[in-house]
Amino acid sequence: MARSALLNVMVQAAIKAGKSLGRDFGEVQNLQVSVKGPGDFVSNADRKAEKIVKDELMKARPTYGFLGEESEEIKGTDGAHRWIVDPLDGTTNFLHGIPQFAVSIALERNNEIVAGVVFNPATDELYTAERGGGAFLNDRRLRVGARRVLSDSVIGCGVPHLGRGNHGKFLVELRHVMGEVAGIRRLGSASLDLAYVAAGRFDGFWETGLSAWDIAAGILLIREAGGYVSDWDGGSSILETGSVVAGNEYIQKALLDVAKRPVPSR
Ligand code: IPD
Ligand code: CA
Ligand code: CA
Ligand code: CA
Repeated sequence: MARSALLNVMVQAAIKAGKSLGRDFGEVQNLQVSVKGPGDFVSNADRKAEKIVKDELMKARPTYGFLGEESEEIKGTDGAHRWIVDPLDGTTNFLHGIPQFAVSIALERNNEIVAGVVFNPATDELYTAERGGGAFLNDRRLRVGARRVLSDSVIGCGVPHLGRGNHGKFLVELRHVMGEVAGIRRLGSASLDLAYVAAGRFDGFWETGLSAWDIAAGILLIREAGGYVSDWDGGSSILETGSVVAGNEYIQKALLDVAKRPVPSR
């Protein structure tokens, strides 16, 4: 597997930030934690990791724009390129000592995602993709799952935070999907959830209310692994709407159909 110079920069940044997260993961009781919104926490581990990623990426390509969860957006002078970064995706897991979290880095060129890296430092799993070059888990080429029917499938999802007022809608979706599938999982890191679809661990995934940094890298992983990703309406406004429905061509379509069934009247 040959990686471009740019992908190597992204991988090095993710690994360096991952090392910092790994050290803080062993000392979570000493972190300073604040609350950004309902169920949305941030700690000095998130901020440190973002600074590491930002410094590495901006050093390599100073003219590119930078959108990260924990800092002000930088508009690049270059106009065509933008990094999209979640330095710690799965902060709640991290703060609870659950080893399901990741550094997620994507590169956008003229509004298209052209490279993506998702790295879980707790398991040393590094997911990478470049447009047209396939998706990989460490050195292994990835392919989405082959199951064609929901009744055989394990589907991942995200649960909207309490207080955002959309639980009613989510519970309807969940009820519809649960009635059709072999199993449902909620692992708590959207970037890894999408990477799991790319790796065929999940047959499909859906979540709404996400941000671009949660999903930009994962979308490319899935497409490069032969999968399909759309927004909630079946369109391509995924980063803009923060809604994502993913799987192979059969499961993605079936999931869209099932999850969008109308709310039952009783
Ligand atoms: C969160 C995770 C989670 C998703 C939340 C995100 P964070 O990201 O991706 O799986 O359900 O909506 O906010 O805050 O841990 O980076
Ligand atoms: Ca957050
Ligand atoms: Ca996130
Ligand atoms: Ca985050």
